[in-house]
Amino acid sequence: MKKKELVVSAIQNGTVIDHIPSDKLFQVIKILNLQDGKDQMLFGTNLESQKLGKKAIIKIQNRFFETSEINKIAIVCPTATLTIIKDYEVVDKRIPSLPDEFEGIVKCYNPKCITNHENVTPKFKVLDKQEIKLQCHYCQRITKEETLSFL
Ligand code: CTP
Ligand code: ZN
Repeated sequence: MKKKELVVSAIQNGTVIDHIPSDKLFQVIKILNLQDGKDQMLFGTNLESQKLGKKAIIKIQNRFFETSEINKIAIVCPTATLTIIKDYEVVDKRIPSLPDEFEGIVKCYNPKCITNHENVTPKFKVLDKQEIKLQCHYCQRITKEETLSFL
């Protein structure tokens, strides 16, 4: 048997967010507002992953996320998986799926859009859940994967 050890220690209760591409780690932290949390958190990044090359993992003690929060993760990394831990045991697995609409997170691609000039939070409708196609609520312009940039 291959020796298997945890690079980031096990947690007792909480959520493990795994299979995050390393370069998306800080965006996931921002989307979930983890920087303001008071709970114990463990991170690993640039870990070996067969699927992703380099991956990151976040383990948050005593936090259990709403589906709406989990789904926001899909905007930056659809590959992420969430594992819910209770009493050291895996009790549930969740996969983020793109929401129908959302606010913030992404910039509208249209340089003339009001959200790029005034203090207006961007708001998007998700037109396509396979390849990213986000329609701006204010100017109707479509932001795609190639033109995606984050707030
Ligand atoms: N984990 C943890 N604390 C525990 C139990 C599990 O931090 N008490 C973590 C594991 O380190 C792993 C994740 O939760 O990163 C998922 O655990 P598990 O389903 O047992 O592992 P895998 O089968 O490897 O999961 P996956 O297929 O999602 O990689
Ligand atoms: Zn716009």
